[in-house]
Amino acid sequence: MRLRFVRAWLALAPVLLLAGCSGRAPSTLDPAGPGARRVASLWWLLFWISAGVFAVFLVVLVWAVARRHRSGSIRRGDATRFVVVTGAVVPFVILTGVYAVGLRDMSALRAPEHPAAAAAAPGTVTVEVTGHQWWWEVRYPGTAATTANEIHVPVGTPVQVRLTTDDVLHSFWVPQLMPKTDLIAGQVNTTWITAEEPGTYRGMCAEYCGLQHRYMHFVVVAEPRAAFDAWVAHVASPAPSPDTAAEQRGMQVFLQTGCAACHTVRGTPADGTVGPDLTTVGDRWSLGAGAAPNNTGALGGWVANSQQVKPGNAMPPQPVPAEALPDLVAYLRSLK
Ligand code: CUA
Repeated sequence: MRLRFVRAWLALAPVLLLAGCSGRAPSTLDPAGPGARRVASLWWLLFWISAGVFAVFLVVLVWAVARRHRSGSIRRGDATRFVVVTGAVVPFVILTGVYAVGLRDMSALRAPEHPAAAAAAPGTVTVEVTGHQWWWEVRYPGTAATTANEIHVPVGTPVQVRLTTDDVLHSFWVPQLMPKTDLIAGQVNTTWITAEEPGTYRGMCAEYCGLQHRYMHFVVVAEPRAAFDAWVAHVASPAPSPDTAAEQRGMQVFLQTGCAACHTVRGTPADGTVGPDLTTVGDRWSLGAGAAPNNTGALGGWVANSQQVKPGNAMPPQPVPAEALPDLVAYLRSLK
């Protein structure tokens, strides 16, 4: 019941509508991996302790109100002892216990939840994630696979996520899989994701990082190992050659109007590294890390003037002639 209530509220978030992701809301109380389950357990422990303390407080309050007209029935020494025990000793014991549990969880979260499984699994997966204002660069070391705002993982396998930032502090958070981990410049922080069930999990930036912190979303797609391997191989491949005449014209526009100075499309001369790698942009779940759906109309608007869609992002309006825009969009849509 309580979970359904929380989920119902979270489901109202417009970002969920935007994402078009079917499935569960990104609630920490609906864990789908060992890291998140540990955090949820700690949350429930704190909740029940708080509920218990509150209940005891209410009982004592009612008792005190009921006795308020009886005078002289409590000795001064008893009153002092009561205040010391309930005001200092009991809170000290409870808070120390909770602190110890928190320390245990923090140290457990630094390692994969199943070290033996991680050591035994052939080809344990590592993902490198770099935070940018305001998107996530995703690489799979040892392959050419580079994408943005989308991480695929094999289901049931501990995946090491290596995090750093290109600019300001960000925080990587997949509520159903892992607690928040900060991205700090000049440093690599490591966290672990183990998705126990296939599905698409919402992730977000959990540290205020500037104007578009709100649109710094990503998804984690957990799928069977074979599908994951196929996805990595696909993303690592060079972009397909344009099929149609419109796509071919669009590619020329892309290479000539300055897009290529900031974006890479592997297999073409475009090798810019300022913005996201666009080799598989046609496949992505959104534009602008959750700012717009990834469809023909939204993509046209984004290219023409993304500042209207996501003000402050690093991409200036593009001087693409109106008659060339449909070709450019057709080319970008074909990159999958
Ligand atoms: Cu990145 Cu908030």
